[in-house]
Amino acid sequence: MRILGIETSCDETAAAVVQDHPNPSCRILSNCIFSQIAQHQDYGGVVPELAARAHLKFLLPTIRQAVSEAGLFLNDVDAIAATAGPGLIGGVLVGLMAAKALALSLNKPFLAINHLEGHALTPRLSHKLEFPYVLLLVSGGHCQFLEVEDLGRYRLLGTTMDDAAGEAFDKVAQLLGLEYPGGPSIEKMADKGDPDRFVFPIPLKGRAGCNLSFSGLKTAVRTLVKNLPSLEEQDKKDIAACFQKAMVSSLTERSTQALKALSQPVKHFVVAGGVAANQALRQSLQSLCKQYHLEFIAPPLSLCTDNAAMIAWVGLERLKRGEHSSLEASPLPRWPLQDLH
Ligand code: KG4
Ligand code: ZN
Repeated sequence: MRILGIETSCDETAAAVVQDHPNPSCRILSNCIFSQIAQHQDYGGVVPELAARAHLKFLLPTIRQAVSEAGLFLNDVDAIAATAGPGLIGGVLVGLMAAKALALSLNKPFLAINHLEGHALTPRLSHKLEFPYVLLLVSGGHCQFLEVEDLGRYRLLGTTMDDAAGEAFDKVAQLLGLEYPGGPSIEKMADKGDPDRFVFPIPLKGRAGCNLSFSGLKTAVRTLVKNLPSLEEQDKKDIAACFQKAMVSSLTERSTQALKALSQPVKHFVVAGGVAANQALRQSLQSLCKQYHLEFIAPPLSLCTDNAAMIAWVGLERLKRGEHSSLEASPLPRWPLQDLH
């Protein structure tokens, strides 16, 4: 079975072909991404209207490229899967309508996929991983702990009460005058900074439960920047290092709390979403897992940030269970994972 996946919920126009194969390294036949980062850079974040127009312009060439890199013709794929939400509605609409039109004209099944489920199941694409597992989903729009019980069954253990982790990275990067997206810029600067020069608060440390919060930390950075006589290059590096250290400490400490909230024993701790590309976070979570005798799984960097292979994969998992969607499926700006059950 070979599925064409389409992803247009944020600022990446992506198409991919994934096949059913027991060996994870043979599953992705193509994974094409046209990144719109350059279009949004001047604004320090994604401009929804610009994103939707760019998706419209680049989606068809990206689909053609994905199918041809997979060595196929469009008619060779067995189904078309596209992100139906949550995300920026204009972009979601473009991808969803393209997928429906293709499915209708090729007479193939169509699958409307939840973008978060794409991130949540990515470790099952990149690794041989059985349910259940605990997942820390950390992206630009979402930050939550989930107990992944089965396909479509996600138990929310805790979530952010304000900003998502990636959003905090992006906002702090903006404060420091660094390039969008902020996560990779902060990580690069942090490598050359002193992580002990400033002490930032570690959000919710020691509190019961596993909710998260980052707005206080962001405010602490803003206040510090405002009170510095000038913001030199070394200051930026040191602030980036101290901020990243506080983020990683918080996510790690909250992870220990999430493990206490599980309803059943699990063997694997998975981190997914764009912020999972952060090496300091990966290392910290890895040592936490060692301590708790859990296997730590982080998908490869290219599958952590938004991509269409993860969407095709969810399509494949669902199609294998005999599911597909109606062509009436609507785009959804908000679509919590728990609603899938
Ligand atoms: O999953 P993703 O590609 O898109 C969403 O669905 O949100 O995540 C993008 C987010 C951005 O906020 C970006 O700054 C963050 O992931 N990010 C990182 C890193 N790479 C991307 N954050 C920290 N460190 C990184 N290396
Ligand atoms: Zn995402």
